[in-house]
Amino acid sequence: MLEETTLQDLAPGLERCFFFDAVEESYEITGITGQVPAWLRGFYYVNSPARFEREGRRYRNWLDGDGMVSSLHFSEAGVRYTSRFVQTRKLQEEEAAGAFLFRAFGTAFPGDRLRRNLLLEPPNNLAAFRLGDILLALCEVALPIELDPVTLETRGEFDFHGKLNEVSPFAAHAKFDPSNGNMVNFGVSFSPQQPVLNIYEFDRCGNQLRRSRYPVELPHANHDFGITSRHCVFLLSPFLLDFDRFLHDGVSVMDALCWEPERGSRIFVAPRDPKAETPFAVPAGSSGHCLHWINSYEEGRLLTLDIIESEAPVYGEYQVLPDMYTTVSPSRPVRYRIDLDARKLVERLPLDYDRTPDFCSVDMNLVSRPYNDFWSLGISASGIRGRKFTDQLAHGSWQGGGVSDLYQAPRGEYLCGDPAYAGNPKDRGEGVVIVEHLKPLADEASFLLFDALDVKRGPIARLPLRHRRHPGVHASFCPQ
Ligand SMILES: [Fe+2]
Repeated sequence: MLEETTLQDLAPGLERCFFFDAVEESYEITGITGQVPAWLRGFYYVNSPARFEREGRRYRNWLDGDGMVSSLHFSEAGVRYTSRFVQTRKLQEEEAAGAFLFRAFGTAFPGDRLRRNLLLEPPNNLAAFRLGDILLALCEVALPIELDPVTLETRGEFDFHGKLNEVSPFAAHAKFDPSNGNMVNFGVSFSPQQPVLNIYEFDRCGNQLRRSRYPVELPHANHDFGITSRHCVFLLSPFLLDFDRFLHDGVSVMDALCWEPERGSRIFVAPRDPKAETPFAVPAGSSGHCLHWINSYEEGRLLTLDIIESEAPVYGEYQVLPDMYTTVSPSRPVRYRIDLDARKLVERLPLDYDRTPDFCSVDMNLVSRPYNDFWSLGISASGIRGRKFTDQLAHGSWQGGGVSDLYQAPRGEYLCGDPAYAGNPKDRGEGVVIVEHLKPLADEASFLLFDALDVKRGPIARLPLRHRRHPGVHASFCPQ
């Protein structure tokens, strides 16, 4: 009880961000202030967990909510906002029943159901990416859902032309190779006997080009990864899923996860072409947890991987809603370098920005390539016990040695979703980042545009919405 009474509220209004009915809408945004760059054309997409309550039952964890994809279409006519729930099997059956039926990531209840008694029924609530002409809504569990890229209407589960099935593991953080549009992704098959890491590569039409399977020693709850021109790279932290407990004891995924830092982390490097070479692993020399990647690339025989590393996993900080990030530990961007010939770690370089960056992005044209700039959200009150939320936009530079360009939102205002980078196609030195902005005490939501290389200047444009929004998670930008 002491905890309850001493919990500081460092995030005023956060309780108004989760338990309300999300709006499905499509309209031209009016009342834009500032300047939307004339060259900005294309689609911004963001996926948000957006339903947390039914019939008096509330979800506990941010990752439990049903997915809603929203878009901003930047065209000559203006900016159009559209949002639609992802019509998953879970959502449809629960709508019909008027109640939650399925176990969620952080919420289990008596009689809750699983897909084939094996997996969570996916809420497809974490990410939205274009693959060629289609839009995919992804989550951690299984197949993505295909959406119409303009109307966001659901077309159905996308099984990559029959190559995957409804229990194929498929992560939310697919990567796209800018040289050919290929989509590379992974999924961990959990089993009490032998967890297996699956790596997939598809062309821009969704045809499977390769699939490789690697047994892994421990059941890592791995969320993200990196690609280079020739490799897939994983930082396997000792954050482990007790699959037996999830399956047989009826607990949530959250309650079946164990953090065992004494085991240390390993970096696993696998070739994208499984015939090219054998995979290998090296100790990371750190016991931190990696949730999200920034980017990775190789030059000659030197592989660089840039991640966000935290002292402990953050998933537990996504609950109990609406009290988020209550005890979250500092985290920071860290660069690792591996000599591919010697198969050795040769450098570990942490940056000094430690405000718990939780979402990050780079120019999608530079994924898997040498780059300098990245963007992330951060929490100004990181390190202070009490509920809080992301309220900083940080622009990091590896050559600059850290984060010297930072925007701090006013108290009671929050920034959400990956800061999605959109570059001027005619001037590679110019770009914007697009960030969701919530001001819950005023019931206001908007999207903000920042000059990507000068975020400290504050937003260059504000795109106000007509209604509230739930905080977004992962975002992407697809140029026209
Ligand atoms: Fe993520």
